[in-house]
Amino acid sequence: MPEKQRILTGDTPTGRLHLGHWVGSLENRVLMQDEYDCYFILANIHALTTRAEHPEKIYQDTLDIAIDFLCTGIDPQKSCIFVQSDIPAISELTFIFSMLIPFPRLMRNPTIKDEIRDKGLGDSYPFGFLLYPIGQVADILAFRPALVPVGEDQIPHLEMTREVARRFNQLYCGVDPHSEDAKHIAEGGLFPIIEPKLGRVKRLVGTGGPNEQGQLLKMSKSLNNSILLTDDADSVQRKVMAMYTDPKRLKATDPGSIDNNPLWIFHDTFNPDKAWVTEAKARYQAGNIGDVECKKRLVEVLTAFIAPLHQKRLDLEKNMDYVKDVLRKGSEKANHTADETMRLAKGAMHQVF
Ligand code: TRP
Repeated sequence: MPEKQRILTGDTPTGRLHLGHWVGSLENRVLMQDEYDCYFILANIHALTTRAEHPEKIYQDTLDIAIDFLCTGIDPQKSCIFVQSDIPAISELTFIFSMLIPFPRLMRNPTIKDEIRDKGLGDSYPFGFLLYPIGQVADILAFRPALVPVGEDQIPHLEMTREVARRFNQLYCGVDPHSEDAKHIAEGGLFPIIEPKLGRVKRLVGTGGPNEQGQLLKMSKSLNNSILLTDDADSVQRKVMAMYTDPKRLKATDPGSIDNNPLWIFHDTFNPDKAWVTEAKARYQAGNIGDVECKKRLVEVLTAFIAPLHQKRLDLEKNMDYVKDVLRKGSEKANHTADETMRLAKGAMHQVF
């Protein structure tokens, strides 16, 4: 049997995961478990970029994401879930890769620019904040995966991963600079030129209204507009019933707009009953169905998905020894692969003494 191709992806632990994570990447991971050799990283070191003074919170958030992974169907018998700080090769590769990217290139990364703006970092961010995309390159390349399933915001980091891999292969493995990406391994390169795999929904909106420019904001923990994958039933109900819809619609007989309306974006994304959605949208536009009725239906749809995950979370929280054991075993397997990469990288660089 040919070896399965690898995938690597993961999350920075900044809180429990929400529906945007599910449609953006998590759903793909669950679907790909049988076909690929999967590695899922909990990037706890990256969480230090903005929360170095709260390591105990990062510890808890890391366990919380591990629980969310297990609740949504990532199976530790098939996939490797591990913690970034347990993998020394990632730190070693970060240092080496940092030599292969010009410093000004880091500031041209749009995700970094957005984060500096959105998190209000001003110019007080630490050196390590600019280093973290290189750290992410190392997270990925340590496992030499073929595919990296991510949300759209991660694309600039993946582009940088491709640049670093090309450069390493050209400098240290004799790959021709004109060589096609897909041929790097066949021509002796150590690192594959990875491909991103985007989720079914590139950017899920949150439950709140638009910003001053009239754009709906993406679901994000820090914006307080998210529905968590393991929320309890009351929270799901409360969040959906308070969801932003068409502000011009005051009563059920007013014609409503379905564009830029989270209520319908959520139905389109999560309601399996497409016939109901099509009919209800038409009635909404005609002023023939109330917001409340449509929201109640959405509560049912989301609860059917979330309630079992919530129950699994309650069970796992009583069994934290099991969760930690999954992480320890995962890190052991991850180190096996990453150490091999490290050995090969040092070999390619003529640094074996
Ligand atoms: N930066 C990613 C995020 O914030 C998390 C992450 C860290 C990651 N290392 C990774 C994603 C490697 C994909 C591959 O969501």
